[in-house]
Amino acid sequence: MGACQPPRSIDEILARHPPERSSLVMVLQDVQAAYGYLPVDVMERVADVLGVARTHVYAVATFYRVLSLEPRGRHLLRVCMGTACHVRAAQRILEAAERRLGVGDGGTTPDREFTLQTVGCVGACAIGPVVQLDETAHGHMTVPGVAALIEGAGAAEGEP
Ligand code: FES
Repeated sequence: MGACQPPRSIDEILARHPPERSSLVMVLQDVQAAYGYLPVDVMERVADVLGVARTHVYAVATFYRVLSLEPRGRHLLRVCMGTACHVRAAQRILEAAERRLGVGDGGTTPDREFTLQTVGCVGACAIGPVVQLDETAHGHMTVPGVAALIEGAGAAEGEP
């Protein structure tokens, strides 16, 4: 039992990967999954153990959008701003999400329920405009639709 549990500490994460430079992205992904973001002290430890410069770790951490230097909300709401979605009024969807959440692109709500991000293209252009809530893409999005999506996710968390 528990043999396949995800690693929870930086020591466990580092123990699962060879201590070499090529492990960096996988280690950072595991840290992101375990902590929800990349704490500075953890990134420094990763740099030391893998033998890479701290500046390189920081560069990798800021290159990949799946990695975050700041704590994210429980839900990640991504509004696609790619061309196909843009021409179908994605800007209005984004503005509606910003109004509803009270944060801009990249922001996290004070209660840490939601982080809002814009993305280039999520590969579902045919059903644009698209909003992705956590792992699920929602197509043919509308202004009332994104508000309902946010409300539904927030309400689901509040259920006993
Ligand atoms: S441009 Fe939005 S899914 Fe492709």
